[in-house]
Amino acid sequence: MGGTGLLAATANATRAAARTRRARAAGGDGTPEQIHLTWGENPATGVVVSWASPEPATRPRVRIGQRVIKAEPRQYTDGINGETVWTYHARVDGLRPGATYAYAVTADNDSDAADPFTATFRTAPHGRAPFRFTSFGDLATPNTAWVLSYGQSAYAVEVVESFQPLFHLLNGDLCYADLNPTVQPEVWRDFGNNNQTSAANRPWMPCLGNHEVEFDNGAQGFTSYLTRYTLPDNHVTGFGGRWYSFRIGSVLFVSLDADDVVYQDAGAFVTGPAALAPAASTGHPAIEPGTSFYVRGYSGGVQTAWLERTLAAGRDDPAVDWIIVQMHQCACSSSATGNGSDLGIRQQWLPLFDRYGVDLVLNGHDHDYERSFPVRGADTNVGHEVATGAVVNTLRPHPVTTTDNGVFDTSQGTVHLTLGCGGTDANLDDYGTDTADGQHQAKVFTQANRPAPTSTADVFTRAGAGAVEDASWSAKRDTSTGYGIAVFDVHPDPEDFGGHTSITVTQYHAVGADPVNPTTGAKGAPTPDYTEFETFTLIRPRRA
Ligand SMILES: [Fe+2]
Repeated sequence: MGGTGLLAATANATRAAARTRRARAAGGDGTPEQIHLTWGENPATGVVVSWASPEPATRPRVRIGQRVIKAEPRQYTDGINGETVWTYHARVDGLRPGATYAYAVTADNDSDAADPFTATFRTAPHGRAPFRFTSFGDLATPNTAWVLSYGQSAYAVEVVESFQPLFHLLNGDLCYADLNPTVQPEVWRDFGNNNQTSAANRPWMPCLGNHEVEFDNGAQGFTSYLTRYTLPDNHVTGFGGRWYSFRIGSVLFVSLDADDVVYQDAGAFVTGPAALAPAASTGHPAIEPGTSFYVRGYSGGVQTAWLERTLAAGRDDPAVDWIIVQMHQCACSSSATGNGSDLGIRQQWLPLFDRYGVDLVLNGHDHDYERSFPVRGADTNVGHEVATGAVVNTLRPHPVTTTDNGVFDTSQGTVHLTLGCGGTDANLDDYGTDTADGQHQAKVFTQANRPAPTSTADVFTRAGAGAVEDASWSAKRDTSTGYGIAVFDVHPDPEDFGGHTSITVTQYHAVGADPVNPTTGAKGAPTPDYTEFETFTLIRPRRA
């Protein structure tokens, strides 16, 4: 191992030195890195190839077959450290459904121009065809110099490849650059280069989480994210990239930004006692202790209106059986050490999920795995304030069954999965229990937890959720590890379940990866070994 590592390191150093010489000669290093795919407007016929380069690229482009596609450059200057980031986006359209393509990414000042980066990808199938996708959130980077980064992040990317999904859903909190505010571009770079192992071979479709909210980077702090990703058009002026939908076969995927509706304040935050001082070149003033970037309500209801239109159109479309929603924060999480559930989602979006029969909701935010029973409607006035014991209406999602027999008809209720099990160093697989009755118990944010002073001068904190409820919706929780990946196999043909179409879901988990197991106290380490935790099947009647 040691010898091989040394050889590889020597080869890398030689290659890097040669790259630097060539880049200087060409005037800037335009070598592509952080290469990743997203779906185009129609996943059956198009993808977008996106990447970055250390310095501006000259004639950045993608070659695919005989075609050369010019990339659109997009750049931004980080609002805290003042560094400029150069990214490129090439829209590849007019492809055949269900086909495999090889592509190359290069530029005139690509130091690897003689042998540019190449990879292959597959377009989505046309019509009611089976396909597989995978999901987790809260990935971080493998560079442990950064807050919340951890080696599991590399194994998490590799395990996506091992399942060879058509695409991957990355449920927010991508790399936690906001927690490393003076080096945000460097954290994003490590994230992008780690992801490239999989995301250059198949689309990785992200959603925004609370840690994508960065100080001095745009109206909602999303500039780092929005510059790096080209996502399907939501046709909402002023809010591009923040939410979107796409259809593959019989499934409508809807990706939301729950930052817009949650009560919890969990974006960028200066705890103090020191202020956060942006580089002088940015012209931005110091950010004082106790400042948080709270964006709840930023779309003014526009996202929710879009969601309703999108769900209504989906349920109206005879080609759509399934509606699957991706968003970062949770309506149904009972992590005790994590964030818990948020009333904002329950108030604004769960009634729409009920009305239009959303089948499945995929979240991140809590670094664990939890599955709900199918839920529809709400139990009212069943929560209480932790501080006072007063009754509080948490709009607890109502389970339509509490029989955990492994097959759930999601035309009767929506299943929620918490999948914040990507790769951070902060596992949260410690769950709430009501000591009075032994039931699963969830914390619920019912109001904004804005920064408050502590007993230490100039140091501020944000409180956890203030209410609790017996989580009658909570079906299954993985107490053995906070790391895993969910694998979804869509079977559009109804042969197995008498007129029902089905999705088989299997959660694989990385036992031993917890830095500290919250139940046993055992110390663990990153592991490439993912084993099956549970499997279950979702069914619903096939559309005519
Ligand atoms: Fe989060």
